[in-house]
Amino acid sequence: MSGLCSERVAIVTGAGRGLGRAHALALAAEGAKVVVNDLGVGLDGTGTETGPARLVADEIVARGGQAIAHGGDIATTEGAASLIRTAVETYGRLDTLVNNAGFLRDRMLVNLDEDDWDAVVRVHLKGHFLPLKHAAAHWRAETKAGRIPAARVVNTSSGAGLSGSVGQGNYSAAKAGIIGLTLVAAAEMGRYGVLVNAVAPAARTRMTEATFAETMAAPDTGFDAMAPENVSPLVVWLGSAASAGVTGRVFEAEGGRITVMEGWRPGPTADKGARWSPAEAGEAALKLLAEATAPEPVYGAQ
Ligand SMILES: NC(=O)c1ccc[n+]([C@@H]2O[C@H](COP(=O)([O-])OP(=O)(O)OC[C@H]3O[C@@H](n4cnc5c(N)ncnc54)[C@H](O)[C@@H]3O)[C@@H](O)[C@H]2O)c1
Repeated sequence: MSGLCSERVAIVTGAGRGLGRAHALALAAEGAKVVVNDLGVGLDGTGTETGPARLVADEIVARGGQAIAHGGDIATTEGAASLIRTAVETYGRLDTLVNNAGFLRDRMLVNLDEDDWDAVVRVHLKGHFLPLKHAAAHWRAETKAGRIPAARVVNTSSGAGLSGSVGQGNYSAAKAGIIGLTLVAAAEMGRYGVLVNAVAPAARTRMTEATFAETMAAPDTGFDAMAPENVSPLVVWLGSAASAGVTGRVFEAEGGRITVMEGWRPGPTADKGARWSPAEAGEAALKLLAEATAPEPVYGAQ
């Protein structure tokens, strides 16, 4: 199959449903051979079922592409290592890793159990780190063998990680952590030919059904702005060799809109050249805040 990703092998985690499924189908449509990972968990991360990953792999094959299902848990060393192994042993190489799997356990902080904290931080943050680590080890070995890969990693953050979201303290912290991980991975892995970026998507999936229930396709054009398939073209391009030179960046993608997100940078500053007293520090802080740009509102804040 010809296309932007022909000759490439891609992994998509959590690709049995929602955004991951759309990314896997879009990568395959551009010629990639795809390892479709999904543990098949419920909305809150409980249970397991191999069905979703197999169905998507079958769908790709039915459309004339190549795909294999992988049902492992990406937040375990065994799951992440076997995922990378599946790509290399089945198709002989790995070019693109799309980290996407995850789930929610929303609660206000006062009601958030330690278990809900651990489960959500684990699946998103560790679930990004472990596949990234095992893919990086593979690409470093390729580089050492004299084969410099045009490797790409696309991580999945969220507006919750960028601006915060009421009732999602665990999720917002994990998704903000993914931005930090993306920046470090981009800085460390460029020497192995690996470019690492992140997307913060918005789309109607089972995860966001309630939030986006009202959104419908435009009656005149038929364009459904909240379809997960709208996010995939940017993911495919970032996952292809065509995105050469782009690394350590964060994009929001929703409907027909792509936005480069510009991160923390120094704002107004004052230097006394000596230690402040607390009262002086407070006075200086208030003066600087008066000059500073107001922060983006937290999602769901009154
Ligand atoms: N839908 C949105 O608007 C939106 C917004 C911001 C961020 N996101 C992020 O996009 C990603 C995809 O979300 P979605 O909306 O498609 O949700 P979804 O529930 O439809 O799909 C997530 C998939 O991940 C799988 N999964 C969960 N834990 C796993 C594990 N340990 N190993 C392997 N697979 C696992 C699930 O079985 C599920 O099929 C998530 O990281 C989510 O946080 C989504």
